[in-house]
Amino acid sequence: MNIILLGAPGAGKGTQARRLEERYQMVQLSTGDMLRAAVASGSELGQEAKVIMDAGQLVPDELVIRMISERIDEPDCAKGFLLDGFPRTTAQAQALDAMLAEKGLKLDAVIQIRVDEEALVERITGRFTCASCGAGYHDTFQRPAQEGVCDNCGGTEFTRRADDNEKTVRSRMEAYRAQTAPILPHYEAQGLVQEVDGMADIDEVTAQLYKVLDR
Ligand code: AP5
Ligand code: MG
Ligand code: ZN
Repeated sequence: MNIILLGAPGAGKGTQARRLEERYQMVQLSTGDMLRAAVASGSELGQEAKVIMDAGQLVPDELVIRMISERIDEPDCAKGFLLDGFPRTTAQAQALDAMLAEKGLKLDAVIQIRVDEEALVERITGRFTCASCGAGYHDTFQRPAQEGVCDNCGGTEFTRRADDNEKTVRSRMEAYRAQTAPILPHYEAQGLVQEVDGMADIDEVTAQLYKVLDR
């Protein structure tokens, strides 16, 4: 199964993607994670991306389109993939259509995680991630069972994203409204869009996703 998880910053794309990966044997393809890895590596691409990401703006289409196209060609994606944070502009959506057609692949669903914007700043400013395994947490909504220890791998080091501050979040939301939300009609026209209520708690959102994808 190949799907897109669509939703504003903090909607829960990454959180849910990790849960869906296991159940449906899909690989999570997060352009945000790929770009953060490039930033951490200090490569030229990473240095260029960092400035844009810290400002809460979108990196150039060609760059992420190339990244995704190469990643989809890797063998692990043959069993299915879950796009998290891509496509994010009309140009990216069109490029994805063309790339899938060329590779003989198709999308099974585009799932919109609906959220109220007011909740998102709190979600994003409270987020932290295990430095060893990447498991996601939240100061209020998703604390590790044992304080300071990752539930998943036992790691004790956690990181926070450079762009998870209120000012950058506002720009990211603006980019979502102006550039990403307008791609929904593109997928509605293809009859692919399904919605879940992203304001429910994390487990409840997962249950809604299972319901949609089990069909
Ligand atoms: P990206 O990494 O994609 O960030 P984003 O879209 O802003 O989304 P987030 O990762 O912040 O949110 P999420 O929906 O994954 O939420 P999460 O599950 O973590 O992109 C970052 C940047 O990279 C962009 O700004 C851009 O510069 C660049 N970029 C990336 N892709 C690009 C592209 N295609 N084109 C151009 N540029 C691109 O949840 C958030 C927190 O809330 C967590 O702490 C979690 O525990 C908690 N939480 C989750 N669900 C719930 C719930 N239901 N109730 C309560 N708390 C919850
Ligand atoms: Mg994410
Ligand atoms: Zn961990």
